[in-house]
Parts: sequence; C-alpha cells; structure tokens
Amino acid sequence: MSAAQPNASSNAFSLAIWIAVGTVALVIGIIMLTRLAVSSYGSRSLDPAAMTPEALAARIGPVAKLQLEGAAAVAPAAAAAPKVAAVAAAPAKAKDGKSVYDTVCMACHMTGAANAPKLGDKAAWAPRIKTGNDALVASVLKGKGAMPPKGGGTALSDAEIKAAVEYMVAQSK
Ligand code: HEC
Repeated sequence: MSAAQPNASSNAFSLAIWIAVGTVALVIGIIMLTRLAVSSYGSRSLDPAAMTPEALAARIGPVAKLQLEGAAAVAPAAAAAPKVAAVAAAPAKAKDGKSVYDTVCMACHMTGAANAPKLGDKAAWAPRIKTGNDALVASVLKGKGAMPPKGGGTALSDAEIKAAVEYMVAQSK
C-alpha cells in the first residue's frame, strides 16, 4: 500500500505534466494557425487590384445582365435574346415603330421593368407625352434613368427610334 501510494501519485504527477504540455502545445498551435489565417487574409485584402472600383463592382454586381443587342447577349431571358440578336444582324432596312418596339423597347416597356412607363399606361405616359415627341425622342437617344441610350438598340437609326416613340405614344394616349 505504502509502496503503491508514491507510484500512484507520481503517475498523477506525470499525467498532469503531460496535460500541461499538451495544453501549451495546443495553444501554440492555435496561435500559429490564427496568425497564418490573419496574415494570408491580410495579404489578400492588401492586393490593390482587388480593391479597384471595377473589381468591387464585378464582385458585388448582379449575376446576370440584360443585354438587348448583339451576339454576346447574356440572357436570363434566353428565349428573347436570339430574336433581338437576329434583328440586330438583319440587313439595314428601316424598321417601323412597332417592330422596333417589339424587338427592343418592349423588354422594359411591356412589363414596366426598371420602372419604365408601360405601353398603354395612359397615366404614366400623359405627363411625358406633354413634353412633346421631340423631347421624348431626345430622351431615348440619350438614355434616361434606367433606360440606356437608344433603349439599348444601338444599331437603330434615329429615325427608327423616332418611329418607335411615335408608336408607343400612339398606343398610350
Ligand atoms: C432597359 C429598359 C428599357 C428599354 C429597353 C427601353 N426603355 Fe424606354 N424607358 C425605360 C425607363 C426606365 C424609362 C423611364 C426613365 C425615367 O423617367 O427615369 C423609360 C422612358 C422612356 C420614354 C419617356 C422618356 C421621357 O422623356 O420621359 C420613352 C419615350 C421611351 N422610354 C421610349 C423607349 C423606346 C422607343 C425604346 C426602344 C427603342 C425604349 N424606350 C427602350 C426603360 C427602357
């Protein structure tokens, strides 16, 4: 009994030492891992190229873009894009107002996307129509608010834009 006693206590003692050593090793390991993580994160955010406005915009920007024209159309509305692209590629023959509307403008003006005044919505159009067709055509050519210049139909001639505006105005009076 008296022989086993010191033995048991020295076992407990060495166990305590091992626990202490293990704890210290664990703490050191955690500190090293933390420093590794912090330094690699820090060097990443210090990359100046990653923080340019373009890079930021690319990271936080919308996943999909509505592109109304051209073969590179990135289309959430995949069905609509080929149609518009086909029109853009068609031989340069002046399109009438309705077909311009149907191919380009309706993307927003049929549904009211981006708060576009809807075709036929008299209340939305009345104050705009009052400004006169020339002013409306000028807004479309330049772009206005969420509407890109020429409503995105950059291949359209000014006359085609004018025809489309006249068509939309006539439908919305
Ligand atoms: C990407 C969506 C989009 C497309 C495509 C688009 N529009 Fe618009 N349109 C808008 C929005 C949004 C407004 C409202 C702008 C504002 O008042 O801030 C608007 C406004 C207008 C107005 C009123 C302008 C004014 O001065 O009040 C006219 C006219 C118009 N669009 C014609 C067209 C024509 C013609 C086309 C096709 C060639 C077209 N839009 C294509 C979004 C679009």
